Amino acid sequence: MGPVPELDERATACADRLLDAERVLLASHIDADGLTSAAIASRALDRAGLDHEVVFEKQLDAERIAAIAATGYETVLFTDFGSGQLDVISRHVADGDFEAVIADHHQPADADDCAPGFEATDGYGDFAWHLNPLLVGIDGASELSGAGASYVLARALGGDRNRDLAALAVVGAVGDMQATGGELVGANEAIVTDGIEAGVVTETRDLSLYGKQTRPLPKLLEYASDVHLPGISNDEAGAIAFLEDLDLDLRADGEWRRWIDLTDEERQTLASALVQRAVTRGVPAEKIDRLVATTYTFPNEPEGTELRDASEFSTLLNATARYERADVGLAVCLGERGEPLERARRLLENHRRNLSEGIDWVTREGVKQREHVQYFHAGDRIRETIVGIVAGMALGNDGVSRSKPIVAFARKNDDELKVSARGTGVLVGHGLDLSAVMREASRAVDGDGGGHDVAAGATIPDGREDAFLDAVDRIVGEQLA
Ligand code: C5P
Ligand code: C5P
Ligand code: C5P
Ligand code: ZN
Repeated sequence: MGPVPELDERATACADRLLDAERVLLASHIDADGLTSAAIASRALDRAGLDHEVVFEKQLDAERIAAIAATGYETVLFTDFGSGQLDVISRHVADGDFEAVIADHHQPADADDCAPGFEATDGYGDFAWHLNPLLVGIDGASELSGAGASYVLARALGGDRNRDLAALAVVGAVGDMQATGGELVGANEAIVTDGIEAGVVTETRDLSLYGKQTRPLPKLLEYASDVHLPGISNDEAGAIAFLEDLDLDLRADGEWRRWIDLTDEERQTLASALVQRAVTRGVPAEKIDRLVATTYTFPNEPEGTELRDASEFSTLLNATARYERADVGLAVCLGERGEPLERARRLLENHRRNLSEGIDWVTREGVKQREHVQYFHAGDRIRETIVGIVAGMALGNDGVSRSKPIVAFARKNDDELKVSARGTGVLVGHGLDLSAVMREASRAVDGDGGGHDVAAGATIPDGREDAFLDAVDRIVGEQLA
Protein backbone atom coordinates (compact mmCIF):
# COMPACT_ATOMS: atom_id res chain seq x y z
CA MET A 1 0.00 0.00 0.00
CA GLY A 2 1.20 3.49 -0.84
CA PRO A 3 1.50 6.53 1.45
CA VAL A 4 -1.96 7.81 0.43
CA PRO A 5 -4.32 4.79 0.46
CA GLU A 6 -7.18 6.75 -1.16
CA LEU A 7 -5.02 7.11 -4.26
CA ASP A 8 -3.72 3.52 -4.39
CA GLU A 9 -6.05 2.34 -7.11
CA ARG A 10 -5.40 5.30 -9.37
CA ALA A 11 -1.65 5.16 -8.73
CA THR A 12 -1.50 1.47 -9.65
CA ALA A 13 -3.47 2.07 -12.84
CA CYS A 14 -1.15 4.94 -13.84
CA ALA A 15 1.97 2.92 -13.03
CA ASP A 16 0.75 -0.09 -15.02
CA ARG A 17 -0.04 2.12 -17.99
CA LEU A 18 3.44 3.66 -17.90
CA LEU A 19 5.12 0.26 -17.58
CA ASP A 20 3.33 -0.77 -20.78
CA ALA A 21 4.87 2.13 -22.69
CA GLU A 22 7.94 1.84 -24.83
CA ARG A 23 9.05 5.38 -24.04
CA VAL A 24 7.46 8.32 -22.28
CA LEU A 25 7.40 12.09 -22.71
CA LEU A 26 7.32 13.68 -19.25
CA ALA A 27 5.92 17.23 -19.24
CA SER A 28 5.97 19.39 -16.12
CA HIS A 29 5.42 22.90 -14.79
CA ILE A 30 8.12 25.56 -14.33
CA ASP A 31 8.09 26.11 -10.60
CA ALA A 32 9.56 24.43 -7.54
CA ASP A 33 6.68 21.97 -7.32
CA GLY A 34 6.81 21.23 -11.05
CA LEU A 35 10.58 20.68 -10.99
CA THR A 36 10.46 18.35 -8.03
CA SER A 37 7.50 16.54 -9.63
CA ALA A 38 9.57 15.98 -12.77
CA ALA A 39 12.63 14.88 -10.80
CA ILE A 40 10.62 12.36 -8.78
CA ALA A 41 8.87 10.97 -11.86
CA SER A 42 12.05 10.90 -13.91
CA ARG A 43 13.97 9.00 -11.21
CA ALA A 44 11.11 6.52 -10.84
CA LEU A 45 10.89 5.99 -14.61
CA ASP A 46 14.67 5.47 -14.76
CA ARG A 47 14.55 2.92 -11.98
CA ALA A 48 11.70 1.14 -13.76
CA GLY A 49 13.87 1.02 -16.88
CA LEU A 50 11.58 3.33 -18.87
CA ASP A 51 13.14 5.45 -21.56
CA HIS A 52 11.90 9.05 -21.34
CA GLU A 53 12.48 12.69 -22.14
CA VAL A 54 11.56 15.67 -19.89
CA VAL A 55 10.09 18.97 -21.09
CA PHE A 56 8.87 21.98 -19.10
CA GLU A 57 6.07 24.39 -19.91
CA LYS A 58 5.29 27.78 -18.41
CA GLN A 59 1.62 27.27 -19.03
CA LEU A 60 -0.02 24.23 -20.51
CA ASP A 61 -2.47 25.65 -23.06
CA ALA A 62 -3.99 24.31 -26.27
CA GLU A 63 -0.98 25.44 -28.28
CA ARG A 64 1.58 23.75 -26.02
CA ILE A 65 -0.49 20.59 -25.86
CA ALA A 66 -0.62 20.54 -29.66
CA ALA A 67 3.18 20.88 -29.68
CA ILE A 68 3.43 17.94 -27.29
CA ALA A 69 1.15 15.91 -29.57
CA ALA A 70 3.41 16.79 -32.50
CA THR A 71 6.44 15.17 -30.84
CA GLY A 72 5.03 11.76 -31.78
CA TYR A 73 5.35 10.24 -28.30
CA GLU A 74 2.60 7.69 -27.77
CA THR A 75 2.55 8.13 -24.00
CA VAL A 76 2.72 11.49 -22.23
CA LEU A 77 3.02 11.81 -18.45
CA PHE A 78 1.89 15.23 -17.20
CA THR A 79 3.01 16.22 -13.71
CA ASP A 80 1.90 19.30 -11.69
CA PHE A 81 -0.48 20.24 -14.49
CA GLY A 82 -2.76 18.47 -16.93
CA SER A 83 -5.92 18.14 -14.82
CA GLY A 84 -7.00 21.72 -15.49
CA GLN A 85 -6.43 21.15 -19.21
CA LEU A 86 -8.20 17.79 -19.38
CA ASP A 87 -10.75 19.34 -21.77
CA VAL A 88 -8.01 19.85 -24.38
CA ILE A 89 -5.99 16.74 -23.50
CA SER A 90 -9.08 14.51 -23.67
CA ARG A 91 -9.72 15.61 -27.26
CA HIS A 92 -6.16 14.70 -28.28
CA VAL A 93 -6.56 11.32 -26.59
CA ALA A 94 -9.93 10.80 -28.30
CA ASP A 95 -8.25 11.63 -31.62
CA GLY A 96 -5.55 9.06 -30.94
CA ASP A 97 -2.71 11.63 -30.79
CA PHE A 98 -1.29 10.19 -27.56
CA GLU A 99 -2.27 8.40 -24.35
CA ALA A 100 -2.14 10.61 -21.27
CA VAL A 101 -1.21 9.82 -17.68
CA ILE A 102 -1.71 12.71 -15.25
CA ALA A 103 -0.29 13.24 -11.73
CA ASP A 104 -1.54 16.65 -10.63
CA HIS A 105 -3.25 18.57 -7.83
CA HIS A 106 -4.97 21.43 -9.66
CA GLN A 107 -8.73 21.60 -10.11
CA PRO A 108 -9.68 19.42 -13.10
CA ALA A 109 -11.57 20.82 -16.07
CA ASP A 110 -15.35 20.40 -16.04
CA ALA A 111 -16.55 16.99 -17.19
CA ASP A 112 -18.95 18.74 -19.59
CA ASP A 113 -16.01 20.28 -21.46
CA CYS A 114 -14.16 16.98 -21.95
CA ALA A 115 -14.35 14.60 -24.91
CA PRO A 116 -16.94 11.78 -24.76
CA GLY A 117 -15.67 8.81 -22.77
CA PHE A 118 -14.09 10.99 -20.10
CA GLU A 119 -16.47 10.42 -17.23
CA ALA A 120 -17.37 12.78 -14.39
CA THR A 121 -16.23 12.60 -10.78
CA ASP A 122 -18.05 15.26 -8.74
CA GLY A 123 -18.44 17.26 -11.95
CA TYR A 124 -14.71 17.09 -12.72
CA GLY A 125 -13.45 15.49 -15.93
CA ASP A 126 -11.88 12.13 -15.13
CA PHE A 127 -10.41 9.00 -16.75
CA ALA A 128 -8.51 5.86 -15.81
CA TRP A 129 -4.98 7.29 -15.60
CA HIS A 130 -5.71 10.36 -13.55
CA LEU A 131 -3.97 10.74 -10.19
CA ASN A 132 -5.31 13.85 -8.42
CA PRO A 133 -6.12 14.31 -4.71
CA LEU A 134 -9.27 16.35 -5.45
CA LEU A 135 -10.89 13.29 -7.03
CA VAL A 136 -10.73 11.39 -3.75
CA GLY A 137 -11.67 14.18 -1.35
CA ILE A 138 -8.13 15.34 -0.53
CA ASP A 139 -7.42 19.08 -0.76
CA GLY A 140 -5.02 19.89 -3.62
CA ALA A 141 -4.04 23.29 -2.20
CA SER A 142 -3.04 22.19 1.28
CA GLU A 143 -2.80 18.39 1.55
CA LEU A 144 -0.98 17.19 -1.56
CA SER A 145 1.19 18.98 -4.12
CA GLY A 146 2.12 17.99 -7.67
CA ALA A 147 5.35 16.55 -6.30
CA GLY A 148 3.30 14.62 -3.73
CA ALA A 149 1.07 13.18 -6.46
CA SER A 150 4.22 12.27 -8.42
CA TYR A 151 5.67 10.65 -5.32
CA VAL A 152 2.51 8.52 -4.90
CA LEU A 153 3.00 7.44 -8.52
CA ALA A 154 6.70 6.74 -7.91
CA ARG A 155 5.82 4.48 -4.99
CA ALA A 156 3.38 2.58 -7.20
CA LEU A 157 6.11 2.25 -9.83
CA GLY A 158 8.95 1.16 -7.60
CA GLY A 159 7.63 0.43 -4.10
CA ASP A 160 9.69 1.11 -0.99
CA ARG A 161 12.93 1.71 -2.79
CA ASN A 162 11.50 5.01 -4.03
CA ARG A 163 10.95 6.30 -0.51
CA ASP A 164 14.13 8.38 -0.79
CA LEU A 165 12.17 10.58 -3.24
CA ALA A 166 9.97 11.78 -0.35
CA ALA A 167 12.51 14.56 0.32
CA LEU A 168 11.81 16.12 -3.09
CA ALA A 169 8.06 15.81 -2.46
CA VAL A 170 8.51 17.82 0.74
CA VAL A 171 10.38 20.53 -1.21
CA GLY A 172 7.52 20.65 -3.73
CA ALA A 173 4.81 20.95 -1.09
CA VAL A 174 6.70 23.66 0.79
CA GLY A 175 7.40 25.44 -2.52
CA ASP A 176 3.67 25.54 -3.23
CA MET A 177 3.13 27.12 0.21
CA GLN A 178 1.26 24.09 1.51
CA ALA A 179 2.92 24.48 4.91
CA THR A 180 1.69 28.03 5.48
CA GLY A 181 -0.05 27.10 8.71
CA GLY A 182 3.39 26.04 9.97
CA GLU A 183 3.45 22.38 9.06
CA LEU A 184 2.51 19.91 6.37
CA VAL A 185 -0.77 18.12 7.02
CA GLY A 186 -2.95 15.36 5.57
CA ALA A 187 -1.45 13.32 2.76
CA ASN A 188 1.66 15.53 2.86
CA GLU A 189 2.25 14.41 6.42
CA ALA A 190 2.24 10.76 5.35
CA ILE A 191 4.97 11.60 2.85
CA VAL A 192 6.99 13.35 5.56
CA THR A 193 6.71 10.17 7.63
CA ASP A 194 8.00 8.11 4.69
CA GLY A 195 10.93 10.51 4.35
CA ILE A 196 11.77 10.32 8.03
CA GLU A 197 11.66 6.51 7.95
CA ALA A 198 13.88 6.47 4.88
CA GLY A 199 16.34 8.78 6.66
CA VAL A 200 16.07 11.58 4.10
CA VAL A 201 13.85 14.07 6.00
CA THR A 202 14.10 15.54 9.49
CA GLU A 203 11.21 17.39 11.14
CA THR A 204 11.94 19.80 14.00
CA ARG A 205 10.37 22.74 15.81
CA ASP A 206 12.54 25.73 15.08
CA LEU A 207 12.50 29.44 14.36
CA SER A 208 10.22 29.92 11.35
CA LEU A 209 12.26 32.64 9.64
CA TYR A 210 13.44 32.05 6.09
CA GLY A 211 17.21 31.64 5.65
CA LYS A 212 18.33 29.73 8.74
CA GLN A 213 20.92 27.82 6.70
CA THR A 214 22.47 30.53 4.58
CA ARG A 215 21.70 34.02 5.89
CA PRO A 216 23.99 35.88 8.29
CA LEU A 217 21.93 36.69 11.41
CA PRO A 218 21.26 40.38 10.66
CA LYS A 219 19.89 39.46 7.23
CA LEU A 220 17.84 36.61 8.69
CA LEU A 221 16.11 39.11 10.98
CA GLU A 222 15.96 42.10 8.66
CA TYR A 223 14.24 40.16 5.88
CA ALA A 224 11.79 38.36 8.15
CA SER A 225 8.52 39.30 6.50
CA ASP A 226 5.94 36.77 7.65
CA VAL A 227 5.87 38.07 11.21
CA HIS A 228 6.70 41.77 11.30
CA LEU A 229 9.15 42.49 14.12
CA PRO A 230 9.00 46.20 15.01
CA GLY A 231 12.40 47.88 14.82
CA ILE A 232 13.95 44.78 13.22
CA SER A 233 12.04 43.78 10.05
CA ASN A 234 13.11 45.86 7.04
CA ASP A 235 15.53 47.73 9.29
CA GLU A 236 19.19 46.80 8.85
CA ALA A 237 20.49 49.06 11.61
CA GLY A 238 17.70 47.95 13.92
CA ALA A 239 18.43 44.28 13.32
CA ILE A 240 22.15 44.79 14.00
CA ALA A 241 21.48 46.86 17.14
CA PHE A 242 19.11 44.18 18.43
CA LEU A 243 21.75 41.46 17.94
CA GLU A 244 24.52 43.56 19.45
CA ASP A 245 22.45 44.17 22.57
CA LEU A 246 22.28 40.46 23.28
CA ASP A 247 24.84 39.00 25.60
CA LEU A 248 26.10 36.64 22.89
CA ASP A 249 29.17 36.46 20.72
CA LEU A 250 27.49 36.38 17.33
CA ARG A 251 30.52 37.00 15.16
CA ALA A 252 33.24 34.57 14.16
CA ASP A 253 36.42 35.95 12.59
CA GLY A 254 34.64 39.29 12.20
CA GLU A 255 31.78 37.76 10.18
CA TRP A 256 28.23 37.39 11.42
CA ARG A 257 27.31 33.82 12.19
CA ARG A 258 24.19 32.12 10.78
CA TRP A 259 21.35 30.52 12.75
CA ILE A 260 22.71 27.03 12.12
CA ASP A 261 26.13 28.08 13.50
CA LEU A 262 24.60 28.77 16.92
CA THR A 263 24.46 26.31 19.82
CA ASP A 264 21.05 25.25 21.12
CA GLU A 265 21.52 27.55 24.08
CA GLU A 266 22.40 30.54 21.91
CA ARG A 267 19.37 29.86 19.71
CA GLN A 268 17.18 29.74 22.79
CA THR A 269 18.48 33.09 24.00
CA LEU A 270 18.01 34.74 20.62
CA ALA A 271 14.53 33.29 20.10
CA SER A 272 13.42 34.41 23.57
CA ALA A 273 14.72 37.92 22.92
CA LEU A 274 12.75 38.05 19.65
CA VAL A 275 9.57 36.97 21.40
CA GLN A 276 10.25 39.52 24.14
CA ARG A 277 10.66 42.28 21.57
CA ALA A 278 7.45 41.27 19.82
CA VAL A 279 5.52 41.21 23.11
CA THR A 280 6.73 44.62 24.30
CA ARG A 281 5.98 46.16 20.90
CA GLY A 282 2.43 44.84 20.91
CA VAL A 283 2.63 42.15 18.21
CA PRO A 284 -0.55 40.03 18.56
CA ALA A 285 -0.07 36.69 20.33
CA GLU A 286 -1.19 34.59 17.35
CA LYS A 287 1.52 36.22 15.24
CA ILE A 288 4.15 35.66 17.89
CA ASP A 289 3.19 31.97 17.90
CA ARG A 290 4.13 31.85 14.23
CA LEU A 291 7.76 32.67 15.05
CA VAL A 292 8.31 29.02 15.89
CA ALA A 293 7.10 26.38 13.44
CA THR A 294 7.82 23.00 11.99
CA THR A 295 10.96 23.00 9.88
CA TYR A 296 11.81 20.34 7.32
CA THR A 297 15.46 19.65 6.67
CA PHE A 298 17.40 17.10 4.67
CA PRO A 299 20.12 15.42 6.73
CA ASN A 300 21.97 14.10 3.68
CA GLU A 301 22.57 17.57 2.25
CA PRO A 302 25.46 19.72 3.50
CA GLU A 303 24.66 21.99 6.42
CA GLY A 304 24.74 25.70 5.62
CA THR A 305 23.51 25.26 2.04
CA GLU A 306 20.13 26.02 0.47
CA LEU A 307 19.75 22.29 -0.16
CA ARG A 308 19.52 21.49 3.53
CA ASP A 309 16.24 23.35 4.17
CA ALA A 310 12.93 22.74 2.36
CA SER A 311 12.02 26.39 2.14
CA GLU A 312 15.43 27.58 0.89
CA PHE A 313 15.67 24.65 -1.53
CA SER A 314 12.29 25.50 -3.04
CA THR A 315 13.23 29.15 -3.52
CA LEU A 316 16.46 28.07 -5.22
CA LEU A 317 14.38 25.99 -7.63
CA ASN A 318 11.92 28.81 -8.37
CA ALA A 319 14.95 30.94 -9.20
CA THR A 320 15.85 28.57 -12.03
CA ALA A 321 12.64 27.40 -13.67
CA ARG A 322 10.84 30.73 -13.56
CA TYR A 323 13.79 32.20 -15.50
CA GLU A 324 13.82 29.68 -18.32
CA ARG A 325 16.48 27.52 -16.69
CA ALA A 326 14.40 24.54 -15.59
CA ASP A 327 17.29 22.35 -16.81
CA VAL A 328 19.47 23.78 -14.03
CA GLY A 329 16.84 23.17 -11.35
CA LEU A 330 16.17 19.65 -12.56
CA ALA A 331 19.89 18.83 -12.47
CA VAL A 332 20.09 20.07 -8.88
CA CYS A 333 17.03 17.99 -7.92
CA LEU A 334 18.63 14.95 -9.50
CA GLY A 335 21.68 15.36 -7.30
CA GLU A 336 24.11 17.11 -9.64
CA ARG A 337 26.29 19.58 -7.79
CA GLY A 338 29.18 21.70 -9.02
CA GLU A 339 28.30 23.85 -12.03
CA PRO A 340 24.48 23.45 -11.93
CA LEU A 341 24.42 24.39 -8.25
CA GLU A 342 26.66 27.41 -8.81
CA ARG A 343 24.46 28.45 -11.68
CA ALA A 344 21.33 28.07 -9.55
CA ARG A 345 22.89 30.26 -6.86
CA ARG A 346 23.60 33.02 -9.35
CA LEU A 347 20.01 32.80 -10.55
CA LEU A 348 18.87 32.98 -6.93
CA GLU A 349 20.59 36.34 -6.44
CA ASN A 350 18.70 37.65 -9.43
CA HIS A 351 15.37 36.14 -8.25
CA ARG A 352 15.71 37.73 -4.81
CA ARG A 353 16.46 41.11 -6.31
CA ASN A 354 13.43 40.83 -8.58
CA LEU A 355 11.12 39.82 -5.72
CA SER A 356 12.33 42.60 -3.50
CA GLU A 357 12.06 45.23 -6.27
CA GLY A 358 8.62 43.90 -7.19
CA ILE A 359 7.34 44.11 -3.63
CA ASP A 360 8.82 47.59 -3.20
CA TRP A 361 7.09 48.70 -6.38
CA VAL A 362 3.70 47.35 -5.32
CA THR A 363 4.04 48.91 -1.87
CA ARG A 364 5.03 52.27 -3.37
CA GLU A 365 2.34 52.36 -6.06
CA GLY A 366 -0.35 50.83 -3.88
CA VAL A 367 -3.24 48.69 -5.02
CA LYS A 368 -6.53 49.82 -6.55
CA GLN A 369 -9.84 48.80 -5.06
CA ARG A 370 -12.95 47.13 -6.41
CA GLU A 371 -15.79 46.25 -4.10
CA HIS A 372 -14.64 42.68 -3.39
CA VAL A 373 -11.04 42.58 -4.68
CA GLN A 374 -7.91 44.71 -4.83
CA TYR A 375 -5.57 44.74 -7.82
CA PHE A 376 -2.43 46.16 -9.41
CA HIS A 377 -1.17 46.25 -12.96
CA ALA A 378 2.60 45.78 -13.17
CA GLY A 379 2.89 45.94 -16.95
CA ASP A 380 6.52 45.12 -17.77
CA ARG A 381 7.83 46.00 -14.32
CA ILE A 382 7.37 42.53 -12.86
CA ARG A 383 8.12 39.36 -14.78
CA GLU A 384 4.92 37.44 -15.47
CA THR A 385 6.42 34.24 -14.05
CA ILE A 386 6.90 35.79 -10.59
CA VAL A 387 4.02 38.29 -10.38
CA GLY A 388 2.00 35.72 -8.41
CA ILE A 389 4.76 35.27 -5.82
CA VAL A 390 5.00 39.06 -5.48
CA ALA A 391 1.21 39.38 -5.09
CA GLY A 392 1.21 36.71 -2.39
CA MET A 393 4.11 38.27 -0.52
CA ALA A 394 2.56 41.76 -0.76
CA LEU A 395 -0.69 40.57 0.83
CA GLY A 396 -0.69 41.92 4.38
CA ASN A 397 1.95 44.62 3.71
CA ASP A 398 1.15 48.30 4.27
CA GLY A 399 -1.89 49.24 2.21
CA VAL A 400 -2.58 45.68 1.04
CA SER A 401 -5.36 44.22 3.15
CA ARG A 402 -5.71 40.50 3.84
CA SER A 403 -9.48 40.87 3.91
CA LYS A 404 -9.80 40.95 0.10
CA PRO A 405 -8.21 38.75 -2.55
CA ILE A 406 -5.48 40.38 -4.64
CA VAL A 407 -5.40 40.24 -8.43
CA ALA A 408 -2.20 41.12 -10.30
CA PHE A 409 -1.61 41.79 -14.00
CA ALA A 410 1.70 41.62 -15.87
CA ARG A 411 2.49 41.64 -19.55
CA LYS A 412 2.94 38.18 -21.04
CA ASN A 413 3.58 39.12 -24.67
CA ASP A 414 2.50 41.70 -27.25
CA ASP A 415 -1.16 40.81 -27.05
CA GLU A 416 -1.69 38.89 -23.81
CA LEU A 417 -1.62 39.59 -20.09
CA LYS A 418 -0.80 37.19 -17.28
CA VAL A 419 -3.12 37.34 -14.27
CA SER A 420 -2.29 35.99 -10.82
CA ALA A 421 -4.75 35.91 -7.94
CA ARG A 422 -4.07 35.16 -4.28
CA GLY A 423 -6.37 34.80 -1.28
CA THR A 424 -6.08 33.65 2.32
CA GLY A 425 -7.22 30.56 4.18
CA VAL A 426 -9.78 32.68 6.02
CA LEU A 427 -11.35 33.89 2.75
CA VAL A 428 -11.43 30.32 1.41
CA GLY A 429 -13.23 29.38 4.63
CA HIS A 430 -15.87 31.98 3.66
CA GLY A 431 -16.37 30.44 0.22
CA LEU A 432 -13.64 31.98 -1.95
CA ASP A 433 -12.55 29.76 -4.87
CA LEU A 434 -10.09 31.68 -7.02
CA SER A 435 -9.74 28.77 -9.43
CA ALA A 436 -13.39 29.10 -10.42
CA VAL A 437 -13.04 32.91 -10.45
CA MET A 438 -10.05 32.84 -12.80
CA ARG A 439 -11.60 30.23 -15.07
CA GLU A 440 -14.99 31.91 -15.44
CA ALA A 441 -13.80 35.51 -15.59
CA SER A 442 -11.06 34.74 -18.13
CA ARG A 443 -13.45 32.81 -20.35
CA ALA A 444 -15.78 35.81 -20.32
CA VAL A 445 -13.01 37.76 -22.13
CA ASP A 446 -11.72 34.92 -24.34
CA GLY A 447 -8.91 33.91 -22.02
CA ASP A 448 -8.31 30.84 -19.89
CA GLY A 449 -7.32 30.13 -16.32
CA GLY A 450 -7.54 27.89 -13.28
CA GLY A 451 -5.52 26.71 -10.28
CA HIS A 452 -6.46 26.33 -6.62
CA ASP A 453 -9.08 27.92 -4.36
CA VAL A 454 -6.45 30.04 -2.58
CA ALA A 455 -4.14 30.78 -5.52
CA ALA A 456 -4.98 30.81 -9.21
CA GLY A 457 -4.02 32.42 -12.48
CA ALA A 458 -5.14 33.17 -16.01
CA THR A 459 -4.09 34.51 -19.38
CA ILE A 460 -6.32 37.17 -20.98
CA PRO A 461 -6.15 39.33 -24.11
CA ASP A 462 -4.49 42.72 -23.57
CA GLY A 463 -6.99 45.55 -23.15
CA ARG A 464 -9.71 43.41 -21.58
CA GLU A 465 -8.66 44.09 -17.96
CA ASP A 466 -11.76 46.13 -17.08
CA ALA A 467 -14.28 43.62 -18.33
CA PHE A 468 -12.24 40.87 -16.68
CA LEU A 469 -12.18 42.72 -13.34
CA ASP A 470 -15.94 43.32 -13.58
CA ALA A 471 -16.44 39.56 -13.84
CA VAL A 472 -13.90 38.82 -11.08
CA ASP A 473 -15.53 41.30 -8.72
CA ARG A 474 -19.02 39.92 -9.39
CA ILE A 475 -18.00 36.27 -8.93
CA VAL A 476 -15.97 36.90 -5.79
CA GLY A 477 -18.92 38.88 -4.40
CA GLU A 478 -21.23 35.93 -5.07
CA GLN A 479 -18.81 33.44 -3.47
CA LEU A 480 -18.37 35.49 -0.32
CA ALA A 481 -22.06 36.45 0.00
O1 C5P B 1 1.15 25.82 -9.97
P1 C5P B 1 1.20 25.55 -8.54
O2 C5P B 1 0.15 24.72 -7.95
O3 C5P B 1 2.51 24.88 -8.32
O4 C5P B 1 1.30 26.90 -7.74
C1 C5P B 1 0.73 27.10 -6.50
C2 C5P B 1 0.90 28.56 -6.15
O5 C5P B 1 -0.04 28.88 -5.16
C3 C5P B 1 2.28 28.92 -5.60
O6 C5P B 1 2.77 30.08 -6.22
C4 C5P B 1 2.00 29.22 -4.13
O7 C5P B 1 2.84 30.23 -3.65
C5 C5P B 1 0.56 29.64 -4.14
N1 C5P B 1 -0.12 29.38 -2.86
C6 C5P B 1 -0.38 30.44 -2.00
N2 C5P B 1 -0.98 30.22 -0.79
C7 C5P B 1 -1.33 28.97 -0.42
C8 C5P B 1 -1.11 27.88 -1.28
C9 C5P B 1 -0.48 28.13 -2.50
O8 C5P B 1 -0.05 31.58 -2.36
N3 C5P B 1 -1.91 28.80 0.76
O1 C5P C 1 6.90 35.05 2.26
P1 C5P C 1 8.09 34.54 3.02
O2 C5P C 1 8.69 35.55 3.93
O3 C5P C 1 7.85 33.23 3.68
O4 C5P C 1 9.16 34.25 1.88
C1 C5P C 1 10.45 33.83 2.20
C2 C5P C 1 11.26 33.78 0.93
O5 C5P C 1 10.73 32.77 0.11
C3 C5P C 1 11.23 35.05 0.12
O6 C5P C 1 12.37 35.81 0.39
C4 C5P C 1 11.25 34.56 -1.30
O7 C5P C 1 12.55 34.60 -1.78
C5 C5P C 1 10.81 33.15 -1.23
N1 C5P C 1 9.54 32.77 -1.83
C6 C5P C 1 9.55 32.18 -3.08
N2 C5P C 1 8.38 31.70 -3.60
C7 C5P C 1 7.23 31.83 -2.93
C8 C5P C 1 7.19 32.45 -1.66
C9 C5P C 1 8.38 32.91 -1.12
O8 C5P C 1 10.57 32.08 -3.71
N3 C5P C 1 6.10 31.35 -3.49
O1 C5P D 1 1.01 31.75 -12.07
P1 C5P D 1 0.52 31.76 -10.69
O2 C5P D 1 1.60 31.54 -9.68
O3 C5P D 1 -0.33 32.93 -10.34
O4 C5P D 1 -0.44 30.51 -10.60
C1 C5P D 1 -1.23 30.22 -9.47
C2 C5P D 1 -1.85 28.86 -9.68
O5 C5P D 1 -2.78 28.91 -10.78
C3 C5P D 1 -0.84 27.81 -10.06
O6 C5P D 1 -1.23 26.64 -9.43
C4 C5P D 1 -0.97 27.70 -11.56
O7 C5P D 1 -0.63 26.43 -12.04
C5 C5P D 1 -2.44 27.97 -11.77
N1 C5P D 1 -2.75 28.53 -13.10
C6 C5P D 1 -3.60 27.85 -13.96
N2 C5P D 1 -3.91 28.37 -15.20
C7 C5P D 1 -3.38 29.54 -15.61
C8 C5P D 1 -2.51 30.25 -14.75
C9 C5P D 1 -2.20 29.72 -13.49
O8 C5P D 1 -4.07 26.77 -13.61
N3 C5P D 1 -3.67 30.01 -16.82
ZN1 ZN E 1 1.97 22.56 -7.84
